[in-house]
Amino acid sequence: MPMEPSKWIDVTVEKNHYSLDHFVIPTHYEKDVSSILIPHGVIMDRVDKLARMIVDEATGPLVVCCILKGGHQYFADLVNSIKKLTTKAGTSVPLSLEFIRVKSYRNDQSEGVTISLTENECRDFEGKNLLIVEDIIDTGATMVKLLERLSQYQPKSVKVTSLLVKKTPKSNGYIPDYVGFAIPDEFVVGYALDYNEYFRDLDHICVISEHGKKAYAV
Ligand code: HPA
Ligand code: MG
Repeated sequence: MPMEPSKWIDVTVEKNHYSLDHFVIPTHYEKDVSSILIPHGVIMDRVDKLARMIVDEATGPLVVCCILKGGHQYFADLVNSIKKLTTKAGTSVPLSLEFIRVKSYRNDQSEGVTISLTENECRDFEGKNLLIVEDIIDTGATMVKLLERLSQYQPKSVKVTSLLVKKTPKSNGYIPDYVGFAIPDEFVVGYALDYNEYFRDLDHICVISEHGKKAYAV
């Protein structure tokens, strides 16, 4: 069931942007981002809560599927957080980990979606509870395509968590089961979200500046 908007943290309001002076930014990116949308510490605290919700609603072992590359940081922190929770009696959820490569963006524009999944990998999904871990739902096109593909392999259940959901008129209406933050219709980078492979080494989630878009355009 898609998550109700009342359960997201909405950071679309302008006043929620932090000045670059308020936190440490790697000097090589100082000119390339215009504001900090979500500081790293807030991301980490929110990930703990998402882990709690996922564990509370899990009905059995989970196959946690990381959507590469952008999802890797959220995936790693989420899995760590779930592992910490499940060391307590009564909440134990066995995890296995899978990795799916998806590509669709060039500069800040979505192009055709390519999904790298072999038939063999897909056959392993039959009868399993899948948890798809994504960094961002923007138009929703990538996720709808991926879910269509996965449903062919008869998993027992499929849930999706995305750290971010962009409030954009280009959305196809898709909403994941577990959402971290709703963000404004701007191109964001950091915490493994990239712009042409740059900015994955930035811890905070930031809005890219015009300078940044030009500097790293392809
Ligand atoms: N930033 C990085 N990657 C993305 C975005 C974004 O805003 N939207 C879709 N992929
Ligand atoms: Mg990306």
